[in-house]
Amino acid sequence: MPYHIPRGFGREVHLARRAEYEFALRDEQNRPRSKAEDRSSPLRIMDRTIVVAITGASGVIFGIRTLELLRELGVRTHLVLSAAAKITISQETDWTSGRVVALADSHHDPKDIAAPIASGSFQTEGMIVVPCSIKTLSAIANSFAADLISRAADVTLKEGRPLLLVVRETPLHRNHLRLMDLAARAGAVIFPPVPAFYGRPENLDDLITGIVGRALYRMDIDNSAYHRWKGT
Ligand SMILES: Cc1cc2nc3c(=O)[nH]c(=O)nc-3n(C[C@H](O)[C@H](O)[C@H](O)COP(=O)(O)O)c2cc1C
Repeated sequence: MPYHIPRGFGREVHLARRAEYEFALRDEQNRPRSKAEDRSSPLRIMDRTIVVAITGASGVIFGIRTLELLRELGVRTHLVLSAAAKITISQETDWTSGRVVALADSHHDPKDIAAPIASGSFQTEGMIVVPCSIKTLSAIANSFAADLISRAADVTLKEGRPLLLVVRETPLHRNHLRLMDLAARAGAVIFPPVPAFYGRPENLDDLITGIVGRALYRMDIDNSAYHRWKGT
């Protein structure tokens, strides 16, 4: 039986909400007001905020580059590093977990299920799990919200905000594919870190940046790291 996306669900809701918010914000910004009022305005300028989770799949460099790009773009980040991610960071890169954490605006312990990002009332523009292990994919697909990463992802889905899962595993067996399908049906975007070559990457760094730029673009975060195909 075909899966029907419920009316107003997901990306459309998110885009409509953002348009509404930006409209209200423009009005509020253009309204003349005193300095005191400016400081206490109930509709303060909301920074762009993204939740970034790095899990223990191979390719933690994608998560690190995501944090670097978001920082350059002036987007606030709330980071959660899984315990396994700390191991892969040390196995695959010359980074320390401390240096990775320093790239984010806020950092939360994966066991802290009372962190602000565990609640839908904490406004964000979405979440990216990069890279996303099969274990975390499974937790998200099944709403098994036993840690902060899967809880924040579940909240992102229930609030109709974009959730990108940069799932890294190969080859894939049928249960992996089933889990991806389940997560996609709930509204997640399955975004395996697959490179495009039409931007003529000259080295690994270009390739990584291109993939991360494309992922952020899919979350409506425009950036120059992603080379759009403009036709021949
Ligand atoms: C060096 C290294 C590479 C790994 N690569 C992958 C991978 O590509 N995909 C995956 O699903 N798990 C991979 N794993 C296994 C995960 O780290 C493991 O399943 C872990 O429990 C995931 O937990 P997390 O999702 O909480 O980070 C790797 C582990 C290590 C040590």
